[in-house]
Amino acid sequence: MKVLVVGSGGREHAIAQALSKGRDITVYSVMSRINPGIAALSQDYLITRETASQEIKSFCAKHKIDYAFIGPEVPLEAGIVDSLSTAGVLCVGPKKKAARIETDKAFCRNLMKQYNIPGLPGYYIFQGPDEAVAFLKTSSSDYAIKPIGLTGGKGVRIMGEHVDQDGACEYVREINGGVVIEERLIGEEFTLQAFVDGKHLIPMPLVQDHKRAFDGDKGPNTGGMGSYTLPDHRMPFISDDEYNHAIGIMNKVVAALASEGTPYIGILYGQFMNTAKGPMVIEFNARFGDPEAMNVLSLLDSDIGDVIRGVTSGTLDTVQVSFARKATVCKYLVPEGYPDNPHAGDIITPGDAGPALLYYASVVSKDGNLVTQSSRTMAYVGIGDTLEEAEKIAETAAASVQGPVRHRRDVGTVDVLNKRIAHMQEIR
Ligand code: AMP
Ligand code: GLY
Repeated sequence: MKVLVVGSGGREHAIAQALSKGRDITVYSVMSRINPGIAALSQDYLITRETASQEIKSFCAKHKIDYAFIGPEVPLEAGIVDSLSTAGVLCVGPKKKAARIETDKAFCRNLMKQYNIPGLPGYYIFQGPDEAVAFLKTSSSDYAIKPIGLTGGKGVRIMGEHVDQDGACEYVREINGGVVIEERLIGEEFTLQAFVDGKHLIPMPLVQDHKRAFDGDKGPNTGGMGSYTLPDHRMPFISDDEYNHAIGIMNKVVAALASEGTPYIGILYGQFMNTAKGPMVIEFNARFGDPEAMNVLSLLDSDIGDVIRGVTSGTLDTVQVSFARKATVCKYLVPEGYPDNPHAGDIITPGDAGPALLYYASVVSKDGNLVTQSSRTMAYVGIGDTLEEAEKIAETAAASVQGPVRHRRDVGTVDVLNKRIAHMQEIR
């Protein structure tokens, strides 16, 4: 089968890599710039905006593409799946209306409320800054402030963490549009990704991402600096009941979207905060996480072609999906100044990566050199029987890179995991 990957980051390199290991799969790609990893795996590729539906449709027709795997949220919001579907290309990714679960935070919260889906924090929606500021001024609680639309994972400000009340009001004025103001949740975050075929859901190993730019969870939020999974595919600070509760929430969202006449097909990403009251929903994404895709896809044992056929034909319940029972640690290298003032155009030189897997992201190959761009550069994934082993592999590889890039040394360390466990114990 011929499968098109849309997107040019580390997540899409991981998707392309998983596809290239599948039985009888030929990989094609559409990228906004040449990702050297994806390009090397592709039979042919098209460089264009990832939202250029007509051009992408023509590329699919030219190559008789059977399936498309959509990596990022922006083309989903632009309706790439609606467009490709009319050309007979089956997509792993939701249509525009179902993708609103990610692209419209007000829609997501209202859907959860309407269908009585648990895990919904208290929330308030405001269409403009004046009402939102008035609300903030009359309340003494801490809230999370979010623009309604897409922000590349960097649009949230938490009162008591990033801003005080005045800072929150200032931020709302800066957004100058629709905002969701939510109860501030306290706990430990985890990511639950699942394959979804409109009705059925198959969960993947739990992942914990590290959003903050610097070691010790300091600094501004980023797209994600690195992430880990454990051999049992769970997290020690989440009980069986809490895990099952989170799966239940995801299943209810899938059922709600089906009832709305907009069945959800693709990867559903649940970002949860495990709180004293159990898992609460921070947000849903309509795609794989980046970096989280690199953790789970590096472990996928089943044939990805079978999974794609199951997802796109509503028969996922008949597909056996298994992941290796190993730990993974993913560490992203990012340019100096990232995320606020990222430097670009620097040459970097990878050293001996040992057994680590390398996924390219925002980096181009020029005259035989790797040159950084302004977003996350590339990631190494270590796989091991234990977290320690996986972390050591990823850390050694990341530390071997010469040039003006940095990474978080603490991602996936046992020390950080123990802190998470202790934090959860304290909260309970
Ligand atoms: P998002 O862009 O919605 O993934 O949010 C980015 C980050 O902001 C999350 O990973 C959380 O760390 C934090 N966050 C979002 N919503 C809340 C909330 N209601 N309470 C506490 N933290 C939140
Ligand atoms: N790592 C968070 C995201 O992909 O949204």
